[in-house]
Amino acid sequence: MPTAPRVVFFTGAGMSAESGIPTFRDALTGLWSRFDPAELACEAGFRRDPALVWGWYRWRAARASTAMPHAGHAAITALQDVGHTVTVVTQNVDDLHERAGHARVLHLHGSLFASRCIDCGRPADPEPMREPLPEGADAGVRLEPPPCPDCRGLLRPGVVWFGETLPDAAWQAALQAIDACDLLLVVGTSGLVHPAALLPERAARLGRRVIVIDPDPTGIDAIATQVLRLPASAGLQQLQRLL
Ligand code: OAD
Repeated sequence: MPTAPRVVFFTGAGMSAESGIPTFRDALTGLWSRFDPAELACEAGFRRDPALVWGWYRWRAARASTAMPHAGHAAITALQDVGHTVTVVTQNVDDLHERAGHARVLHLHGSLFASRCIDCGRPADPEPMREPLPEGADAGVRLEPPPCPDCRGLLRPGVVWFGETLPDAAWQAALQAIDACDLLLVVGTSGLVHPAALLPERAARLGRRVIVIDPDPTGIDAIATQVLRLPASAGLQQLQRLL
């Protein structure tokens, strides 16, 4: 009997869009069209104004916590359930893949729910990003980050900021998954952020099939074996046909 193909999903913000979580670069709705990454997504911005940055991530975490996985997430779960070896390599910092039951999820850009001390690195426990937002708070809410119980440094969000390196264990595991896969599905990423965007190129160089699912053109289309111009939910529901 032929073995089931090993499938890797490389996902970006578009994977979560139909769950109601905004992307970064979509012209009207993307986070980077409304907010300044130099203020909100780098260590210098956090050190300048910790309450602004912590409040923004608490707002994003609250939205992510109430979002629900969609039919595209369920299609990945179904593939896993019939015995395929499935790895999800995600740039997303929400936990929709985990909540959809995906067993192996590698977070290249960290997680909204892995706060740690900016000075000593101690992980926060309990996770403060799980706290509900104050009544009426919006994206501009100012909230002071709690102090680290060990060193009194400030807690920071567990996401990778501009200028920081990716978590090494996740990156190495992602490279291994790409090298060992038969098929790479690239879902909902503009393919503009490196080094993450190098993964599809690596798969293509190794001769793996690379299928892009995205309603708009992406930086990965040129090296793809096939492009499905569809939203994630509709594209992933065609998975069985694509294997
Ligand atoms: P982008 O905002 O750059 O790209 C989102 C992609 O999703 C685009 O190609 C859209 O066309 C596509 N898209 C929109 N709606 C979709 C839908 N319903 N189904 C499928 N695709 C859809 O987001 P990323 O590529 O994830 O980094 O951005 C990469 C990184 O840049 C992020 O992880 C973040 C950001 O700065 C960090 O925070 C470190």
